[in-house]
Amino acid sequence: MKTHLFAFLTVVLTGANAALAPFIKPCKLNDKECVKSSATAAIPFIVPGIPALDIPPSEPLYIKQATSDQGEMKLTFNDMNIYGLSQSTFNNVEMDEAKSVIRIELETPLFANGTYKLEGKILFIPAEGEGNIEIKTDKVKVFIDVKYTTITDKKGDKYWKLISYDYKYDLIKKVYFMPENLFGGDATRAKPLLELFDQSWKELITELGAPIIKDVVKIAIERVKKFFLAVSISELVQS
Ligand SMILES: *[C@@H]1O[C@H](CO)[C@@H](O)[C@H](O)[C@H]1NC(C)=O
Repeated sequence: MKTHLFAFLTVVLTGANAALAPFIKPCKLNDKECVKSSATAAIPFIVPGIPALDIPPSEPLYIKQATSDQGEMKLTFNDMNIYGLSQSTFNNVEMDEAKSVIRIELETPLFANGTYKLEGKILFIPAEGEGNIEIKTDKVKVFIDVKYTTITDKKGDKYWKLISYDYKYDLIKKVYFMPENLFGGDATRAKPLLELFDQSWKELITELGAPIIKDVVKIAIERVKKFFLAVSISELVQS
């Protein structure tokens, strides 16, 4: 019954051409403050997922597998759930129409859990283990430049189509990297490695955590891409 009602509402809403994203406050593109606050206001609506737009929930965001292979060291994460995107805020969202680029700077806390497998050496220290893992930080800053083109559908409505992106990030707060069961639970052998994670977290985690950040950015961009392909520019931009 519920599903039917939902399907019905979806058809009615989209069929009637009602606003698909009523939570978006349209902005003039050169009004930076408006664009930033409108983007931030959209987070609590997009992160839980929007079934009508086929956008899945992002809290947690699920990653089946991510791998970091550095020759000396091989690290695989499996079944990672990533929490925190619902608390992200935009520091900057800037539309550069001349270059067809959206420049984004956002801050987010991240908490990830799942399982890991580690083999090899990290800074000459033997590193080996398999089990549960938790990774946590209070603040990561992510900078993303997204290139887009403008497309027009049969009805003449215009949409932004995201085509590529570049990103970088800064670890602002300490990252806690907490693998369980290093060396099969041998605490003596695990100690130097855990100390290394604790003391050299900035250099190490930038490498060790990179595949997770990469996937989080990729999946988030895919979802925003879907959103922009479904919601026409006329709903987003104040004319
Ligand atoms: C991961 O963390 C979440 C949130 O704290 C928790 O609800 C969940 O049970 C954890 N999952 C695992 C596999 O530890």
